[in-house]
Amino acid sequence: KECIKVGLLGAGTVGSGVLTVLEENTAEIEKKVGVPIHVSKILVRDMKKAKELSEKYQLTDKIEDIVEDPEIDIVVELIGREHPAKEYIAAALEHKKNVVTANKDVLAKYGKELFPLAEENKVDFMFEASVGGGIPIIRPLKSCLAANKVTSVMGIVNGTTNYMLTKMSQENMDYADVLREAQEKGYAESDPTADVGGLDAARKLVILASIAFNTRIDLSDVLVEGIDGLDLCDIEHGKELGYAIKLLAIAKNNAEHGISVCVRPTMLPVSHPLAGVNDVFNAIFVTGDAIGDAMFMGRGAGKMPTASAVCGDIIDVARNIIHKSNGRINCTCFDEKHLCSLEN
Ligand code: NDP
Ligand code: HSE
Repeated sequence: KECIKVGLLGAGTVGSGVLTVLEENTAEIEKKVGVPIHVSKILVRDMKKAKELSEKYQLTDKIEDIVEDPEIDIVVELIGREHPAKEYIAAALEHKKNVVTANKDVLAKYGKELFPLAEENKVDFMFEASVGGGIPIIRPLKSCLAANKVTSVMGIVNGTTNYMLTKMSQENMDYADVLREAQEKGYAESDPTADVGGLDAARKLVILASIAFNTRIDLSDVLVEGIDGLDLCDIEHGKELGYAIKLLAIAKNNAEHGISVCVRPTMLPVSHPLAGVNDVFNAIFVTGDAIGDAMFMGRGAGKMPTASAVCGDIIDVARNIIHKSNGRINCTCFDEKHLCSLEN
């Protein structure tokens, strides 16, 4: 294969970040994959609105132009929300396209349909950006920590609300003003109700807990309370008592009581490691029988951190395609000066 071709669905906050990363780091990425990665088509809703983009890329407003294009290897879904994103992902998988997505709304609700579809069609389906923005957490849970009996996954998994709580606490900013700021920065969902109401964190918890506990957790299993009932007084009161309020997502797997999953604002002593995780940062604690505690932290939302995770998935899928087409095993070794692939 001389080149990997990507069909991008949606060029909003994250989609435009993906275009920037693939463009600015072209040479670096080509060295790592072995061949260049090209975005060959972009699905937009309104062709007239996307005039600037059309100067560089081929645009379409028809999903068939992408999923039925035999040249496209990877479909990257970044339009968000449940519909038609779920139908577009399913169509791509049915057409044997590898799929990368950041869409936790679709994964939390329709993962049980889509993962078997990917398996049936023998294609990759990757979603690192769906939890924790730029933080690597899905791959570590799926592979590096796979040998553990995981007993708990908990942390801050929504950037918008952590940004809001930080600004309300440190700068006494008003709830509505700080939410607007989080929207302007590209952290919030197109409808921020899911952020402030805790549903976005619950969807992410479903994804994390399903992988960590190797079972399927349902969104309806999660007890959800957001920060929409909080105001400055609650935060001030907590501070006076030596606590920081954080929106925590908690999943526990207890031998006696089974699995429990909840999202709720929690008062943490300021000495607790999560109390100091501020701004748009997220942090996830994983506890396993072999590793003990491990913490993953980084920017949990925003254009470039999220694009970093999406592009990491694209690169991994591209490597798989190259290795399969070359009949090589997907393995790298370090030979002092550079990373190289091992011939099968
Ligand atoms: P945006 O709303 O900024 O971008 C979505 C883009 O998709 C817009 O350009 C929109 O066009 C386009 N679009 C929507 N529906 C369609 C459609 N039916 N056909 C064609 N184009 C369509 O969202 P984000 O980039 O912020 O988010 C994308 C995904 O990434 C979501 O699933 C989100 O949850 C996830 N995510 C976002 C993060 C972030 O920090 N923003 C972090 C991690 C994950 P138009 O403008 O015309 O509506
Ligand atoms: N709206 C989400 C958040 C985007 O604020 O965390 C990242 O998933």
